[in-house]
Amino acid sequence: MTATARASGASRARRARASAMSGAPAGSGSAGTGMTRPADHIIVMFGATGDLAKRKLLPGLFHLASSGLLPEQYRIIGTAPAAYVLTDEQFRDHAKDAVQQFGRVKPTGAAWKAFASRLSFGAADADDAQPLLAEVSKAESEIGRHVRRIYHLAIPPVAFGSIIEMLGATGLATDACVIIEKPFGTDLASAQALNRTVHAAFDEDRVFRIDHFLGKESIDNVLAFRFANGLFEPIWNREHVRYVQIDVPETLSIEGRAEFYEHTGAFRDMVVTHLFQVMGFVAMEPPTSLAAKALRDEKIKVFEAMPDLDVASVVRGQYTGYRKEPGVARGSQTETFIALRTEVDNWRWAGVPFFLRTGKSLGQSRQVITLGLREPTLRMFPDEAVEGESCGDGNEIVIDFADPGSIAVRFAAKEPGPSLRLAAAEMRFDYAESFCSANDLEGYEHLLLEAMLGNQALFTRSDGIERLWEISMPLLDDPPPVEPYAPGSWGPKRVHELVAPYRWHLPDR
Ligand code: BG6
Repeated sequence: MTATARASGASRARRARASAMSGAPAGSGSAGTGMTRPADHIIVMFGATGDLAKRKLLPGLFHLASSGLLPEQYRIIGTAPAAYVLTDEQFRDHAKDAVQQFGRVKPTGAAWKAFASRLSFGAADADDAQPLLAEVSKAESEIGRHVRRIYHLAIPPVAFGSIIEMLGATGLATDACVIIEKPFGTDLASAQALNRTVHAAFDEDRVFRIDHFLGKESIDNVLAFRFANGLFEPIWNREHVRYVQIDVPETLSIEGRAEFYEHTGAFRDMVVTHLFQVMGFVAMEPPTSLAAKALRDEKIKVFEAMPDLDVASVVRGQYTGYRKEPGVARGSQTETFIALRTEVDNWRWAGVPFFLRTGKSLGQSRQVITLGLREPTLRMFPDEAVEGESCGDGNEIVIDFADPGSIAVRFAAKEPGPSLRLAAAEMRFDYAESFCSANDLEGYEHLLLEAMLGNQALFTRSDGIERLWEISMPLLDDPPPVEPYAPGSWGPKRVHELVAPYRWHLPDR
């Protein structure tokens, strides 16, 4: 089965949701797209010359501008420490290179000219923000009094505290919002300390902790799949689901990021951030609405129902050759792979294992959620009659959430022929083939837009972040030794024991 959709359903759904979910006053007018456009904004980008700004933020903002989704009046002020100061012209050139290299829309014509005219640069150090202050007040006087300010901290986490304190001390934080990149802390104590620093300058309803996995189309679609259909939610529980897997293998290695990765490792880089957040969407109870508070309350209830991680149910791995990467300690115990089993101790999920796996230098790059369904009460067909499957493994719902994403329901069907033999069959929906993908926003673009609209639904909240660090502490305090695995494999051998008697859905069978 291939689902089809009328007109630009994806974007229409997103637009409807954006206005329905918006907790704070959204914005002004419409861009002719039917979507509320954010109110006038000054966007201050810390780390404007860094990697994230180059790969995602500048290209993403230009795509939003070209789609008519930036405010009518806006300025983007790049900032960096005085040692890296750029002129406005240099910043525009830098942005143009970034968009040329990484953007979906090329920087040409009137659209680029209009965008570039809104870019400027103002240096800021934690102890001297004068050039930035001057730039912000210039932009404010050009746009007018009701302009909003949003700061995007695309900087290394060690710099979060001093920049936030500077924003508070200079008055720049007043009535403004802040977008904070991951990782938010490295353990419970550091996350709590960072939350205290943030809250001294910004109220929680002005804080947007970003997790780009939550900006993916297919993660939103988990909500639509579950709560917009009568078919799936009734089986979304322990009565019908035997196990859940959230599997995010990556083929890429650490790609020269040794300095970051050695101190972070796969658990902090991927699990405590992205995978647990995705799990929150998979496991949550139906929220009373799609508004930010209702949605985030339900997600946090999932985290509250998760027990402390059991170190015996964790496999930490390190790919062979990692210790020879430039910048990596010879005896490094940093994990480049992690798989774990956890549970959600509530009425819906008690006893259902949730298996999470991610790592570098693995066999494929995939982002897959699998729900293994229980076998029918009475088995009238011999198991071995299902071609290529055993133990009912083919009875699954598989959500591929790497954009553009797909959803497949795998089931057993009768093979044509005289004998009653079963074979694996599939009903499948593919985003790429079913909707007008030209309307897509990439994860970061979607989240930048939501932040300007003041909608926190897809951002993490302080109590949720702290709870995730809390349940992680037994693992962080006493990590099991790393086990080696071959690059291109699916992790250390023990990863199969972890899921027994089930099997990992990946690699596809
Ligand atoms: C980042 C991690 O947050 O997410 C990277 O730091 C990882 O290590 C990346 O590769 C994966 O995200 P995506 O969805 O852009 O492939």
